[in-house]
Amino acid sequence: MKSINIIGGNTLCGEVSIQGSKNAALPLLAATVLIKGVSVIHNCPRITDIFHMIKILESIGCKVLFTGNCLKVDATDITNTALPEEYAKLMRSSFIFAGALLARKKEVSIHYPGGCVIGKRPIDIHLDAFSKMGAQFVEKNETIYANAKKLTGEEILLSFPSVGATQNIVMASVLAEGNTIIRGAAKEPEVTELCSFLVKAGAKIQGIGTEILKIEGVPCLQEVEYKVVPDRIVAGTYLLAAVATKGAVFLENAPVDHMNSLLLMLKNIGAKIHLEGNNIFINGEGANKSVPYLETEVYPGYPTDLQSPLMAVLSRAEGISVIRENIFENRFRISGQLNRMGAKIFVKDNHALIYGVEKLKGMEVTAEELRGGAALIIAGLMAEGSTKVAGLSYIERGYEDIVRDLKCLGAKIEKG
Ligand code: UD1
Repeated sequence: MKSINIIGGNTLCGEVSIQGSKNAALPLLAATVLIKGVSVIHNCPRITDIFHMIKILESIGCKVLFTGNCLKVDATDITNTALPEEYAKLMRSSFIFAGALLARKKEVSIHYPGGCVIGKRPIDIHLDAFSKMGAQFVEKNETIYANAKKLTGEEILLSFPSVGATQNIVMASVLAEGNTIIRGAAKEPEVTELCSFLVKAGAKIQGIGTEILKIEGVPCLQEVEYKVVPDRIVAGTYLLAAVATKGAVFLENAPVDHMNSLLLMLKNIGAKIHLEGNNIFINGEGANKSVPYLETEVYPGYPTDLQSPLMAVLSRAEGISVIRENIFENRFRISGQLNRMGAKIFVKDNHALIYGVEKLKGMEVTAEELRGGAALIIAGLMAEGSTKVAGLSYIERGYEDIVRDLKCLGAKIEKG
């Protein structure tokens, strides 16, 4: 298993530029299937999840060219609607192809989606909506076969503002017959990005960024060129790493407007933050306060993806912090690894109680999922001595080159 080796204790200092957003880019790749022609996506991050999505696109007949951070997808001919199991199983985002292929080809077969081991992650909300729009399903050997004579616009009320389900329903409805209204839609920037991409391609969507999306089906979409927004989770990870090491870091090209809840929390724990356009300067020197209570929430609340990295930081804060995880039940798994490093974290159901300790000690730990892996790297930066974080492949699912970036900020860090 490939790993990352860190010698802790260095204060991060310097400047780093933020990559394109993973969670915004992945649905755009699926959305290219809706367009009979070429889509050009700029600022696309070179991460494993994107490479896997490309494999899926190629397997269904698309021609793909990925040069630097520019991705060109020619989806003129879709020759296959069965997604390869090996890639579909690897990541939950693969299920986003369901809406796109149903819309374009009126059929899809797809293995139950995989992804991080952070919880049950069901897909009932997606399937209920597709079914309401006219799709039928058969399930066999963990594969879902779906088809529809036609998809029709419907009024859909979501029982939870699921990001993935909202994106899937938007994809299914842009080419559907008639009008679709999604009530209780997710408002995450990654949903807004998908809608903006589709509108640029000729889709008719109203209410973008709100919990009511109104979509008027159109017969076809046109070729499109689009630039992916910077990654708010990567930016957040680096801000937390700066605070963890009491460093002073300048983030260039950060999605400042999407980061309010994190920036507020960082100010509350004592960080000094200066915003300048799309740049963030953070000084984490005095940022050692605990967080009396924080819960993960849907946007614009505190993001679940930054909960584990925060937990690592709070493990060394002055005082007791409490986190409630509302989105994914297994996100606290990482506490066991942090405790091995000397943290004092107690978990009961969806609450974590974090007693700040004076020091963490470096050792061999294992990442079992993406954001937990980022948390272990942050812990390694704070710890005394050397830390080996096994499971680099999980971290590479979302960070283009976290070792390069942290090294450029002065961390003693290498790939093992
Ligand atoms: C989630 C995050 C998103 C993050 C992404 C990657 C939220 C609301 N969503 O999106 O910000 O970028 O992970 O880590 O924070 N659910 C159901 N049935 C469904 C779909 C979802 O019960 O059909 C539940 C899930 O179990 C979970 C919650 O809804 O508890 C959020 O799921 P959803 O937003 O769909 O997850 P992702 O799209 O993966």
